[in-house]
Amino acid sequence: MKQFYTIQGGRRLEGTVTISGAKNAAVAIIPAAILAGECCILENLPHIADVQRLKTILEKLGAKVDYTRGDCLTIDPTAIKTTDATFDEVGDMRASSYLLGAMLGSYGEVELALPGGCVIGQRPIDQHIKGMRALGAKVYMDESRNVVRAQATRLKGAEIFFDIVSVGATINLMLAACKAEGQTVLQNVAKEPHVVDVANFLNMMGASIKGAGTDVIRIIGRNKLHGCTYAVIPDQIETGTYMIAAAATRGDVIIKNVIPTHMEAVSAKLMESGARVIEGDDGREFYLRVTMNERPRSVNLKTMVYPGFPTDLQQPMMAYLCCAQGTSIIQENIFENRFNHVKELRRMGASVSVSKRIAKVKGVEALRGAEIAATDLRAGAALIVAGLSAHGTTTVRNIEYVDRGYEHLEHKFNALGGYIERGSK
Ligand code: EPZ
Repeated sequence: MKQFYTIQGGRRLEGTVTISGAKNAAVAIIPAAILAGECCILENLPHIADVQRLKTILEKLGAKVDYTRGDCLTIDPTAIKTTDATFDEVGDMRASSYLLGAMLGSYGEVELALPGGCVIGQRPIDQHIKGMRALGAKVYMDESRNVVRAQATRLKGAEIFFDIVSVGATINLMLAACKAEGQTVLQNVAKEPHVVDVANFLNMMGASIKGAGTDVIRIIGRNKLHGCTYAVIPDQIETGTYMIAAAATRGDVIIKNVIPTHMEAVSAKLMESGARVIEGDDGREFYLRVTMNERPRSVNLKTMVYPGFPTDLQQPMMAYLCCAQGTSIIQENIFENRFNHVKELRRMGASVSVSKRIAKVKGVEALRGAEIAATDLRAGAALIVAGLSAHGTTTVRNIEYVDRGYEHLEHKFNALGGYIERGSK
């Protein structure tokens, strides 16, 4: 049965929302736990389909994976009995590519179904493979079976300069190198918050990784790592989604369990559009408060690697800017095909034209409810932002994409005064 959301738009969001653990950190940290060779306890994990799918993948490989508390997963990799990760669940998700580094680093071999994920561009893994080869692995692509096979007696540290800045390749190489022989230097790496979070987790397991969050990461390989307890950081993209939704509904929302420095690019653009964004500390945790009382002004933005404006928030931000005064120019620099949400926004009355990687968003007075469909995870988030701010009722189909990355989405929005109902047919 297909699920959909019905959204009654035009309600001002008000109140407090608490952000969950970061999806893109969690989906790397779960496979990384294999490297411990002992039990790890992961806290603050989001309840999302991608985490559930990785749990199933690890179980299929033989690991023992159990929820001990609501958001807390215990992973015991000691019973892993196979390095054959060619089953369907693996090919269905992008983050399963982290099994390449984690299993090669742990067992010296892996056979992996080539990763899928959201359709937002080509998404090759050439940089991952180049890095694994530099560490001494033999890597074969079996295109007829859509499988990649990698093998190494013992990986050896190396200097690797990435041709492009890639979150996935940076993390995958950290995983592979932390048990390699000698030193690895990764240059031109991604600096996203979840890259740093994965490095912190690996260091907690006894790895030696320095420089995560800068352009160069240095890793000294260890023979053995150990188990640990680790809490995943709050989700930067979920935080941004609620910030944008607050502004789009001309609301007043306090967002808790956030790291404000991760949000600076988003806060800056929201303020440029006329919203008020305040960073606070209530003595126990940081929070952000986003208030908007008027029609936003148009702003231009270009997606960039961190600390630039994140590509994952380009789509929700466009939904917000559809009702701005004036014309906003949005340039997507990370993925070549991340404008699939545009035709759905047009059904709601948006005036957006796209030429290659540039979208021109001519602000309209208001969006109106329509029947629309998500084409990927953040397109889904964008349509929900649009639906919440529109006049009338919006139906968003294909919400399985949204379930991949947002925990309790309708409960959180409804607690803020929104109206989102899940249905199925
Ligand atoms: C991660 O994808 C995230 N996914 C994405 O989030 C996010 O949009 C992206 O980083 C950029 O921040 C996960 O963390 C699971 P990349 P990833 O490697 O690692 C090209 C979401 O909505 N490239 O940084 O796949 C690639 O095609 C998802 O939560 C190569 O050419 O992104 C892209 O154009 C969607 N060769 C660019 O680099 C490679 O070997 C950046 O990709 C690797 C990447």
